[in-house]
Amino acid sequence: MTDGAQQPIYLADYTPFGWLIDQVELTFRLSPDATRVTSRIRFRPNPDAPGQEFFLHGEQLRLIRAAIDGAEVTPALSDTGLTCAVPDGPFTWEAEVEIAPNANTALEGLYMSNGMYCTQCEAEGFRKITYYPDRPDVMAPFTVRVESDLPVLLSNGNPAGAEAGWAEWHDPWPKPAYLFALVAGDLVAKSGDFTTASGKNVKLNIWVRPGDEDKCDYALDALIRSMRWDEEVYAREYDLDVFNIVAVDDFNMGAMENKGLNIFNSKYVLASPETATDDDFARIEAIIAHEYFHNWTGNRITCRDWFQLCLKEGLTVFRDQQFSGDMRSHAVKRIEDVLMLRARQFREDNGPLAHPVRPESYVEINNFYTATVYEKGAEVIGMLKRLVGDEGYARALDLYFDRHDGDAATIEDWLKVFEDATGRDLGQFKRWYSQPGSPRLSYTDHFNSGRYEIHFKQENQDTKSHPNKQPQVIPIAIGLLGPNGDEVLPTTVLEMTEARQSFAFDGLAARPVPSILRGFSAPVILDHDTTAQERAFLLAHDTDPFNRWEAGRALAKDVLIRMVADGAAPDATLLHGIGRVLTDDDLDPAYRALVLRLPSEDDIAQALFDQGRTPDPLTIHRASGALKDAIASHLRHDLGAAYEAMTCPGPYSPEAVDAGRRALRLAALGLLTRLDGGALATTHFTDADNMTDQQGALTALLAVGAGEDQAAAFYDQWRHDRLVLDKWFMLRAALAGPDNAAEVLTTLTRHADFDWKNPNRFRSVIGAYSGNAAGFHLADGSGYALVADWLIRMDGVNPQTAARMSTAFDTWRRYDADRQGQMREALERIQAHSGLSRDMSEMVARMLGD
Ligand code: TRP
Ligand code: ZN
Repeated sequence: MTDGAQQPIYLADYTPFGWLIDQVELTFRLSPDATRVTSRIRFRPNPDAPGQEFFLHGEQLRLIRAAIDGAEVTPALSDTGLTCAVPDGPFTWEAEVEIAPNANTALEGLYMSNGMYCTQCEAEGFRKITYYPDRPDVMAPFTVRVESDLPVLLSNGNPAGAEAGWAEWHDPWPKPAYLFALVAGDLVAKSGDFTTASGKNVKLNIWVRPGDEDKCDYALDALIRSMRWDEEVYAREYDLDVFNIVAVDDFNMGAMENKGLNIFNSKYVLASPETATDDDFARIEAIIAHEYFHNWTGNRITCRDWFQLCLKEGLTVFRDQQFSGDMRSHAVKRIEDVLMLRARQFREDNGPLAHPVRPESYVEINNFYTATVYEKGAEVIGMLKRLVGDEGYARALDLYFDRHDGDAATIEDWLKVFEDATGRDLGQFKRWYSQPGSPRLSYTDHFNSGRYEIHFKQENQDTKSHPNKQPQVIPIAIGLLGPNGDEVLPTTVLEMTEARQSFAFDGLAARPVPSILRGFSAPVILDHDTTAQERAFLLAHDTDPFNRWEAGRALAKDVLIRMVADGAAPDATLLHGIGRVLTDDDLDPAYRALVLRLPSEDDIAQALFDQGRTPDPLTIHRASGALKDAIASHLRHDLGAAYEAMTCPGPYSPEAVDAGRRALRLAALGLLTRLDGGALATTHFTDADNMTDQQGALTALLAVGAGEDQAAAFYDQWRHDRLVLDKWFMLRAALAGPDNAAEVLTTLTRHADFDWKNPNRFRSVIGAYSGNAAGFHLADGSGYALVADWLIRMDGVNPQTAARMSTAFDTWRRYDADRQGQMREALERIQAHSGLSRDMSEMVARMLGD
């Protein structure tokens, strides 16, 4: 890797491209090791950016010939692209290049997966297909001709002719190159139709390998519901005659929103009751919606540059969260989203990888598809909506679509539509986009003759990259409960703008119990020594479902921390509080299942570290087990009753009601298995007629160190189904106990089915293992060494996937000196590896803090 490739790119350096493009024509002659790509591109000078040298990106291309206005030219080539003398006015650029999709293991650009050709161009993959200004602010209509003997040949836009051996596609909507896609293969479609609100018929196809066509019904249904929802809620219609989705087995991420031709990791398309869990179905619904919603938030309005990534991702995540809430339960969805936010985004934002929602520099943009850009980006939009109200939000979004359709826009553009639509000044609010780190919110309160005062303080910790942080706008949704549990102040949004700020409520008969940050109204860390009694009171009475759950969660966290730090016994207040929720039949079973779920071992490690203590992963693992044992024996009777009650009559349905009942039933089973050694779970496993129950029973068994026979049976039953086999690998790696975790990992990586170049399989083993806190943080450092070995190996093949998984090491500063040393050593060993990718070098350097 040359030094030049490691230079950071800065937001502040943005300049537009010197030319505009009127039309792009591409021809692909497909062949596994010598695909020919011919391009014909009409350029004209950009009046806003005159006088530039003509540079086109291009990597790993073999240039066959180039011409300008029909005359051969000889451009100057480098590792990153070409420069060429060009006419002063408009001109037509032609080039022919050769590429080898078969040799492309990075899964970026044009590559092959199981005999099919497919592309992944976001963020900067198009430059591995042909020479082009590969930046999102250069938009053009594309016409594509694909030549191949394969039966199905697809690209973006509308079909424009096909015969045996070729197909043409025309996409009338100007788009950046990152939205380009091509697929060719022996595929079959599960098809449907959609009529838009204005009466246009759209043909829908989900393309899969033969044999998988019976696993597409749910994805198709989710697509139709997404299309309808975007019309009803955002007044956005689809804008082409066809909408194609293709499932591929080898894919670096979840899915990709290419215009009119979404490409999906097959894991997020294929589902049947026998092979997919309820969670899989829910994720498929969310990701189908997410990619579809990008058609407006991302494609029709795209990003000026990659620093603006949250413009499309934060907004599209926010929209898919709204959609899932509407389809299922808002309360449950909110809790699940916050659990994810805390597990991934808070960890990122409070460690060496912290960066603003809109980063200011990067070396490799692929490293910035992060929880901060996506999930915190969505939280920021949720806060905006709360601050301006639902109507203000609707007006702002209408203005956004109106004003910026066809644009490559910025966060400034986005905030300006809110200012113009609502008359609000968002100057201070904008700090959410520029200041990294989770703000810490604390308070003190007083009650005196009917008046309740609450004094908030926010802290935004300075860091080397961001010194001098300023107070942020924090919408604090608050409610007050009277001593009998009745609500004396319904949810009210306090707008905190100062470092310290007080609010008062008058006319109260008695000292209230505050319910703060209802619905998790801001992505902050609420720091307050609330008593166990008060938490139990809120767990019993809060009218806000999120905060009711949050009270139980916080109580469990306090209890676990005391068990770990002081060897305390499990607390009766908690056991009693959980019991009340478990047996409250007025509560949604899905919600009760969430209350039974304890904070993760990683949560506890972070919490201890925040309190200035050194977490020991093994002690945390044991305490967490002891608390589960205590809950199980204390609630044995009620858990048994819940297990008996929460059956689902009728055929399997992935809808929220049945899924919630199964979730509660399996949560009960998991706890009961700690008491009976696995008798009930063994029966449950044998009787299971769907994957949710089968996997749930196996999980319960493996979690207590049992289930070897069932694991073997599971393997035999599913060894020919890639996606289900991933689950088997995942469970083995995630649930290996600390006494033999390293051996289990080694055995798994030597397994004949450990096809490690497949990103799903790699994540199922290496990713699951590094998420197994006690199994990864083994005292002798063997867990770190194994993961580091695999990251180095994967980096040579697929840098993007390897770099994403290197975050396993981002918590190294939390631990004791021995573990810190071992984790550092693992990172330094990766760093010292010759030929390391730009992706991995940047990640490791950031984690090590140099
Ligand atoms: N834009 C995609 C999404 O959020 C993300 C994505 C898919 C991606 N594949 C990628 C990002 C490869 C970077 C690299 O839906
Ligand atoms: Zn997205």
